[in-house]
Amino acid sequence: MQLAHNPAAERAAADGGGVGAVIAACCNPGPWRHDTIALTAAISLATTLCYHAAMQAATARCTRIANIGAGRTRAWLQSAIVPQAGQFVLARYWPGLDPYLSSAVFPAALTSDGFALELPSDDATLPYLVPGADVRLTGPFGQPMPMRHQPDSRILFICARNPHHLLPLAQQALQAGADITLLLERPYPLQTLDARIEARHGELLTLLRNHLAWAEKVFVDCLPGARMRATLQPLAGDSYALFAEALPCGTGACQGCAVPGAKGYQLACVNGPFFRLSALA
Ligand code: FES
Repeated sequence: MQLAHNPAAERAAADGGGVGAVIAACCNPGPWRHDTIALTAAISLATTLCYHAAMQAATARCTRIANIGAGRTRAWLQSAIVPQAGQFVLARYWPGLDPYLSSAVFPAALTSDGFALELPSDDATLPYLVPGADVRLTGPFGQPMPMRHQPDSRILFICARNPHHLLPLAQQALQAGADITLLLERPYPLQTLDARIEARHGELLTLLRNHLAWAEKVFVDCLPGARMRATLQPLAGDSYALFAEALPCGTGACQGCAVPGAKGYQLACVNGPFFRLSALA
């Protein structure tokens, strides 16, 4: 296998040769044999050795679970791994080796001892997620979103799905004194949102056209389709879109999260998961 330049791999190779090859395979997108044990070993080694410096594997504990309404359930995890706003973790709710059976989890809220995640109330993993249950986490993955907001900056959050992927970003922006408007298409338990967030419900494109002139920055919880993208064009340099469709490994190994960019494909788990709209193909 031809390995790309990788400082961590070279350092590790100097110490032990074979370890460097595994780490290089983990950290550099490229040909990879889909061997469960080898990939599990790569992810495990990467948690301690690769230049994804903050990546760890740890066991979190579910401390509370609550139905928050509108078919949504929240679970609070006490966790040593805390993703920053914009990042995600891989969660495993039952024992097993296959890394591709983990779920990508974006925090819905950051707490003093971990974070809360949010799932549909009929999600198949919920029977495993009870208070006291252990959850195996790996991560965090992806790039944190830089949120250097001026007080009173005006930020629009567009939610084609449920807004939980964007809520830590909204919370961070509120702390900086920004004004937040959330555009929602689906029902959501609005009483769970910070009271400073203005929420609007309806057809997204119509809402967007009504609010775009007000906004200075936009976050979208998906890669927008052609019509939304055309509408957002005046703010494309200050609009960020989330790719969260398929994030099986989180390490750049499986190539399952490739997103077409203006300068070629990028991996959502390494370069994203948020992408500036003007940088997408
Ligand atoms: S390469 Fe596997 S999730 Fe990105």
